[in-house]
This record gives sequence, C-alpha cells and structure tokens, in this order.
Amino acid sequence: MKLKLFFPLLIVAVAGCCREESLREMSDRVFERAVAQSVLMDSQLADDEFPRSFTADSLVTSGCEWWCSGFFPGTLWYIYEYTGNEEILSLARKQTAKLYGLYNRKTDHDIGFQVNCSFGNGYRLTGDTTYLPEIAAGAAKLAKRYYPAAGVLRSWDFNIRGNKWSCPVIIDNMMNLELLMNAHRLFGADSLKNIALTHANTTMANHFREDWSCFHLVDYDKETGEIRRKQTIQGYSDDSAWARGQAWAVYGYAMMYRETGVQEYLSQSENVARMLLGRLPEDGIPYWDFDSPAVPEDDRDASAAAVMASSFIDLSTLTQDAELAEDCLAMAERQLRTLSSDHYLAGEGECAGFILKHSTGNKPGNSEIDVPLSYADYYFLEALVKINNLE
Ligand code: GLY
Repeated sequence: MKLKLFFPLLIVAVAGCCREESLREMSDRVFERAVAQSVLMDSQLADDEFPRSFTADSLVTSGCEWWCSGFFPGTLWYIYEYTGNEEILSLARKQTAKLYGLYNRKTDHDIGFQVNCSFGNGYRLTGDTTYLPEIAAGAAKLAKRYYPAAGVLRSWDFNIRGNKWSCPVIIDNMMNLELLMNAHRLFGADSLKNIALTHANTTMANHFREDWSCFHLVDYDKETGEIRRKQTIQGYSDDSAWARGQAWAVYGYAMMYRETGVQEYLSQSENVARMLLGRLPEDGIPYWDFDSPAVPEDDRDASAAAVMASSFIDLSTLTQDAELAEDCLAMAERQLRTLSSDHYLAGEGECAGFILKHSTGNKPGNSEIDVPLSYADYYFLEALVKINNLE
C-alpha cells in the first residue's frame, strides 16, 4: 500500500522539478536577483560614479559624461516597475538625480540614451515634474547636433584610428531619436520630430545593405551631405554585421514606427528582424559579430541579445505579419530564457552587482570582452517587463 502511494508521488515530484519555469516564475527569480545586485551596486558608487563594467575582478566605473551613465538609473526604474519595491524607488531617484544638469556638460549623440533611460523612465513611472526640464534640455542639446545638408545628427566629435571624419553617424544613433520623440510627445516641438524623421530616413537610405544588415558608421560631408566612407569601428570588418549594431537597427526602426506610425520604419525593422532570425544561433545569443570567423564560445554579446529581445517583443505587437510576430516572440522568449540561465545571470554578490555576464563592448579595440555591461542589464530587464506586460 505504502509503495503504491510512493510511486505516484515520486512521478509528480520528478515532473515538478523538470517542468520549465513559466515566464512569470523566471522573471520573479531574475528580478529578485536584480534587487539584491542593484542594492550591492549602489553601495559601491560615489556621487559622481556610474557602473560601466567588471573586469579583472573589479568594478569599473565611469563619470556622468560616459555614454552609459543613464543605464544604471534606468535599470533601477525597471526593477521598481516590476517589483514596486520602495527601496529600489529611492535608489532610482538617487541615481537619476546624479545626472541633473547633464546637458551643461560635454556630451555627444548619446545624451539620448543618458537622459531618456534615466529621466525619461523616471517621469514615465512617477510623473515627477522636476524631470521634465532635463528631458527638454537634453533633447534640445541633441537637436543641436543636426547637420541639415546631410540630414543627420552627428554622432561623434572625435576621430578614432587615424580617421578624419567630417560628420560621422553610427547606427547606434537611431536609439537616441527616442529622446527627441519623447520630448515631442511631452512638449509638442515639431522641429524635434522633424529632425528625428530626417535622421531615420537618411540612415535608412545609406546605412543598410541588400541583405538588410547594416554598416556601423557612415561619414557624411557636413557641408554637402555627400557620403565620404562606410566602415566599422566596433565590428569585425567594414562589410560585416556587428551584432549590437544590428540590434540597434531593429530596435531603432521599431521604436520610430511606434512613435510616428510611418509604415516604412515598420518594414525596415521587419526586414532586419527576418535577417536576424535567420542568422541567430540556436540559443538566441549572437556572437559579437555575425561574420567573424571561428570564435571562442564565450565571444558572445549578451547585450545585443537583450536589445534584440526587447525589440522582438515590440515587433510581435506591431507587425501585421502573423508568422513574423510568432517567430519574434518565440526568439525573444528563447533569448530571455538563455540570459536567465546560470551561465549568463550573475550569482548573488557576483560581478560587483551587475546582472548579466558575457557581453562584448569593443572587440577590435580590445576593450570590454566577455564582461558585464550596464546596457545589457538595462535592455534585459526592459524586455522582461515588456514580455510580462503582453496580454
Ligand atoms: N553605442 C556604443 C555601443 O553600442 O557600443
């Protein structure tokens, strides 16, 4: 009799332990870890420091001018959004406040990331009106980078590796348009929207190849708008598909469609997504460049996977192509499950409080290879919030 009872119980127990976690269970587990990690991260940061990476067993920080300074505040805002944790809310306010007046400092196109991820999310979640002037001034500063002859916002003001650029534009810049669109929505400035539209149109015309992959950098003549050169700085070669660049592209055009309703932006994002879905490895985490030859297993870029996952979730709700919607959502779920595994998710107390391991910052520059990066954490949590908000 005892034996008869035991076997069914054993079967239920074994089935229970092998059952795949539901998305909600997985997200709860990740956000519980994210709370602990972020409290630890916050405790190590001085008033003028932001997390950048974790290399050689040490936390690497940056000042507020580094392009990633908005990601830790933004990560805290997403943790607050998912958990409602009041301690995290106060840390989100504290880390965001460290960026007040950023527009008075030396900035480049990435002021879009810096301001929108921090103040933009902060305003969205709390309605704190002290964040509005930061959004307005940040967008105005970004708009000053517009070169009408070329129809683009200039990305960088410096040169790298002997280049003598006139008006360099990197694909990453598509992401900064979200600040302009947010400011347009909040304050009604048509000029900001027009700049965002023109930049997106120019980039659509010049950055992409026939297979829908894109160049990292296009340099325009700032006086005539003529294209001077197409190349890569962070990818394997000028003609290769640098993984994070492709992620910025699919995300940037889905975001621009969501903000403007312009059909061409949706088509652009859909085409980039189809290319990515055909090229991503089985577990959904790209190697740092889709065209780099024989790479070690850990030359992945978790940050690119996180950005893609977030965008695939958006696309699954925006596209009219039912098959693409299904494929995008399935890939996003696969990417998020892989990133939530022990291989990618930092253990409690590990990596100085970063959440994800195994990103690649700048492989050709021999910088930030197979390390945690603040933007990987930000887009990972953004994607988890989004997937849990789907109907
Ligand atoms: N925006 C710089 C990068 O993606 O590495």
